[in-house]
Amino acid sequence: ELEVDLKEKVTDISPNMWGLFFEDINFAADGGLYAEMIKNYSFEFKNPLMGWGRVEDHGAYGYVFNRNHPEGANKKFLRIQRLNNQGDFGISNGGFRGIAVKEGLDYTVTFIAKIAKGEDLKVTTKLLDRNEVIGKGSVSGFTDEWKEYKIVMNSSKTLDGVQFQLLLEGEGELDVDMISMFPEDTWKGHKRGLRKDLVQLLADMDPGFLRFPGGCIVEGFDLENRYQWKKTIGEMEDREVMMNRWNIEFSHRTTPDYYQSFGIGFFEYFQLAEDIGAEPLPIVSCGLACQFNTGEQVPIGALDPFVNDALDLIEFANGPVDSKWGAKRAEMGHPEPFNLKFIGVGNENWGPQYIERAKVFQKAISAAYPDVTIVSTSGPFPDGREFEYLWGELKKMDAKLVDEHYYRSPEWFRSNARRYDDYDRNGPKVFAGEYAAHTNMTREALKRNNWEAALSEAAFMTGLERNAAVVRLASYAPLFAHVEGWQWNPDLIWFDNLRSYGTPNYYVQKLFSTNPGTHVVPITEADKSLAGEDGLYASATIDENTNELIFKVVNISKEPQKVIIDLNGRYRGNGKGILLEMASDDLAAVNSLENPTNLEPVEKTLEVKRKTIEMELKGQSVNVGKVKL
Ligand code: AHR
Repeated sequence: ELEVDLKEKVTDISPNMWGLFFEDINFAADGGLYAEMIKNYSFEFKNPLMGWGRVEDHGAYGYVFNRNHPEGANKKFLRIQRLNNQGDFGISNGGFRGIAVKEGLDYTVTFIAKIAKGEDLKVTTKLLDRNEVIGKGSVSGFTDEWKEYKIVMNSSKTLDGVQFQLLLEGEGELDVDMISMFPEDTWKGHKRGLRKDLVQLLADMDPGFLRFPGGCIVEGFDLENRYQWKKTIGEMEDREVMMNRWNIEFSHRTTPDYYQSFGIGFFEYFQLAEDIGAEPLPIVSCGLACQFNTGEQVPIGALDPFVNDALDLIEFANGPVDSKWGAKRAEMGHPEPFNLKFIGVGNENWGPQYIERAKVFQKAISAAYPDVTIVSTSGPFPDGREFEYLWGELKKMDAKLVDEHYYRSPEWFRSNARRYDDYDRNGPKVFAGEYAAHTNMTREALKRNNWEAALSEAAFMTGLERNAAVVRLASYAPLFAHVEGWQWNPDLIWFDNLRSYGTPNYYVQKLFSTNPGTHVVPITEADKSLAGEDGLYASATIDENTNELIFKVVNISKEPQKVIIDLNGRYRGNGKGILLEMASDDLAAVNSLENPTNLEPVEKTLEVKRKTIEMELKGQSVNVGKVKL
């Protein structure tokens, strides 16, 4: 028998409590959320023709050369030289682990081109299902000046694994670059926008914040490879393509073709956050490259450009349109500020070298922008001593929010529901910035987004919610993975080029993020909060806006359990409520592209009789109850 005290508000809950961690890992941006369909669109990969093939049919004859632009971020282009006028001649692209098209949908191809030799040249683009043309278009009128051209093709089929061809007709030489193709059905129809189904899955979570651009990607292998937001805004040709930090060579996860086009750059991240109603939470490099890799450090005396990047970023997000960086935001189509409230300094950095640098950032940011909350990092977890050292130093610095990460076993999650019970209520607050239960701690391929992991995370999350006085933000990580291009497992949302699905972990996150409440109220058994006793974990909140009680009870035992909740305090509701229930007797159960909602919550009704709710909780279940007060 549990008791809810409706009168005692233990603490308010951060309005941003449950959010998203986005990193371009597992093809999350290029090949994923960013709807660009052409890989290596500007020939800037280390191997400039990676992703491209040569088309030469029926006696056609010519060459394809790689050339350099004299200057700028987009240094290379392609020269297609056609020496006779027989058959098809040109180049092909297979996209990001395939190109997928949908029947009846328009695909817009754009590219820049100029004639190097000859006249009356024409370009035809095709979508091919093996030898069958399922979409086609042409353009001509090229001159000896670089200009953008556009072709719209309509697909006659729905199919993954299509080939894209760009063919030159006529004798001569045409220089081409920035060959891009987008579907018309992007999120909100934004030009060169994002994949609608993937953004929808995020929007459906009603996330409190969007952390970007990562993770390790913020830091880079070395400092050269770190994320530099200023290089990711403005025109695409000014966004310098860079090798992705997750371009790794490692058994099945080898991804030599993983680069960042920065088609989703910092403007697009802010825009996405705004579109899905999440607070933007950017993370900047603190001048330390990934300490698991090179660990390259900027000397303290040379930190100014890094600090300025952070200050300029705040101006880019919030500054007036007549400020230098506010003007850039306005130029990109968003004169209104993005109202940035948080900025993270560093990711998983540790040691005195982090603290020394964090202090420099803190001084500069809080002097210029006292209202912006700085998020500090608590280094790798679980090196206990390092962790204590960092927390000690961050407390002395009066840090406001500290980012903690934990990728641990399901068992760890279940037994750590009390992790924050004893955290100092007066010290820095916690951002549980990256967490996921790993069902096999050592072998990536055996880590599953299964019910055991999701159930254990739910149990742990009741502890985060009970401790909302300390834990102000939380996000599962990583967010996305392409089924053919992943480097890290498990992940919240999986997709191929046509389909996507939320894992059981996704539905657990969504249960919490769409039912947060505004204040924690005690839910106790004999005056003690439940964190695993009798296999039960529980938390409760009230929502002052909707005047509801929301309780979450997780039953990890195999057996069903009868639970009675006493509503102690003023209950005046109509006796009705709803129960969102997610359960499975199979801990190995998963969702998949073929069966995307194998596990998802089902809605049931609840009754409140004489101020009590009686429920028979299923074995291995997550239950979210809601009753009007
Ligand atoms: O989420 C994957 C990686 O895990 C992140 O990039 C990093 O912060 C952590 O080590």
